[in-house]
Amino acid sequence: MERKWWHDAVVYQIYPRSFQDSNGDGIGDLQGIIQRLDYLEKLGVDVVWLSPVYRSPNDDNGYDISDYQDIMEEFGTMADMEELIAKAAQHGIRIVMDLVVNHSSDEHPWFIEAKKSKDNPYRDFYIWRDPVDGHEPNDLTASFGGSAWEFDETTGQYYLHFFSKKQPDLNWENPKLRQAVYDMMNFWIDKGIAGFRMDVIDMIGKKPDEKITVNGPLLHDYIKEMHAKTFGPKDLLTVGETWSANEQIALQYTKPSNHELSMVFQLFFTQLDQYPDKGKFFTRELNVAGIKEIFDRWQVALNEQSWNALVWENHDLPRAISEYGDEGAYRIESAKMLAIMLYMLKGVPYIYQGQEIGMTNCPISDVSQIDDIESINAYRELTQSGQMTKQEALDAINKKGRDNARTPMQWDNSANGGFTTGTPWLHVNPNYQTINVKAALEDQDSIFYTYQKLIQIRKQKPVVVYGDYQMLTQTAPEVYAYTRSYQGQTLLIVANLSAKPQMINLPQYGKQKALLSNYAQGIIDLKAKPLKPYEAFVIEIK
Ligand code: GLC
Ligand code: CA
Repeated sequence: MERKWWHDAVVYQIYPRSFQDSNGDGIGDLQGIIQRLDYLEKLGVDVVWLSPVYRSPNDDNGYDISDYQDIMEEFGTMADMEELIAKAAQHGIRIVMDLVVNHSSDEHPWFIEAKKSKDNPYRDFYIWRDPVDGHEPNDLTASFGGSAWEFDETTGQYYLHFFSKKQPDLNWENPKLRQAVYDMMNFWIDKGIAGFRMDVIDMIGKKPDEKITVNGPLLHDYIKEMHAKTFGPKDLLTVGETWSANEQIALQYTKPSNHELSMVFQLFFTQLDQYPDKGKFFTRELNVAGIKEIFDRWQVALNEQSWNALVWENHDLPRAISEYGDEGAYRIESAKMLAIMLYMLKGVPYIYQGQEIGMTNCPISDVSQIDDIESINAYRELTQSGQMTKQEALDAINKKGRDNARTPMQWDNSANGGFTTGTPWLHVNPNYQTINVKAALEDQDSIFYTYQKLIQIRKQKPVVVYGDYQMLTQTAPEVYAYTRSYQGQTLLIVANLSAKPQMINLPQYGKQKALLSNYAQGIIDLKAKPLKPYEAFVIEIK
């Protein structure tokens, strides 16, 4: 496969609202990010993916954009953005922007125009349908609750919105809309950004009348066109948020000969504690063995053909330690295990802010503390429909809700974790007293240094980037062991995904020294190696 600059890159996701406030208004901002570039360089990341920083009324915290070519007032100005791109480059860091073009804000001038009349030139930038028998055109629902159709009094038609009603869906069947999006993308490319993370991109080919929401018939045509008209000739990093992609669909997006995207996120693992036919708030015991099954399937399918994106956390998901590890007694061990397990796989690592210091979920005791629109609406629907009691709904939100990942970054043990000198827009996790960047940097055994080391190993050893992947099958279901091999070099990675002590027997590898591990290790005898709770290590086979 042709080499790309992003093959050995490590991406760090910033949720700007919660990263660093520079002016005391309680909201993170671009100057705050600039202040922390030294820290990101120390960690060793090459790329920052910024969650949306565009002009927005913040119905969905920036994922509802009212001007794609301007900056959200609370975050700063276009000059700040240009400064961030330039200063990041001085630290060897490139900026990837969030591309949110399945929908805009209802306050975008396109929608304000479109609403005016049926023959407005912008009408077809959105998706309008006549009522059927005085009702919604069909029973499609929005992922933030209720019908996906909203009635507009002025013109007597419904518009489609798969998220909140303040996020009207854009009409990708309209070539004018597509061209406007490409122009906007090129505006940012010209500013020197390194690529795009594409929000719910699997939805842009929708066919609402046939109730096709994801993987619509023209989806890949649109992406190919976008590729040709924007980033394709520029060699940028592109990553799709594609909840609906299985390995075959992932290949379609990412095979270089298809001229679509660099990679897509595999997000099926987030459903391992859910029921197949219910929403994300109905959970059951986590299927631990499922973790390795899913990652293995994707590694094998994409191995020689395209590239994976390796992700545990983002701004929509619970904290990984709380979900897949143990945020209590084994917080540090399980955090390091999750990092070692995931980031030695083949693909580009994505680290979400705070993951590298082991931030955890932040349970709340009252519904009034919720900010996230998805959780607020879910709470109302789940309790009003009688599917859950109030306590059950709150428990479910504490487990799966998006605010868990959005509490402010914990920098030190001063007030508000050093995030702001004012009143933070969202509560700070009280554990900032002990879990914070300053403490992590002072402790050579901290989770932070495991992340730093993983990144260094990736930079030093091409086997981590290019090595062939193979899972070892002779292990317990909760133990994930795999090798990576490249040009005569072999790495063995072993991770106990559970709190249960385990045993591995890999006599073929003999006695070895660990390159990295989450427990103190002498020489490891792989013939009969007991594994402690969440134990994980990387070995270079000599
Ligand atoms: C994506 C984003 C999420 C947002 C939604 C609608 O899933 O990651 O935060 O709410 O799209 O834009
Ligand atoms: Ca601020």
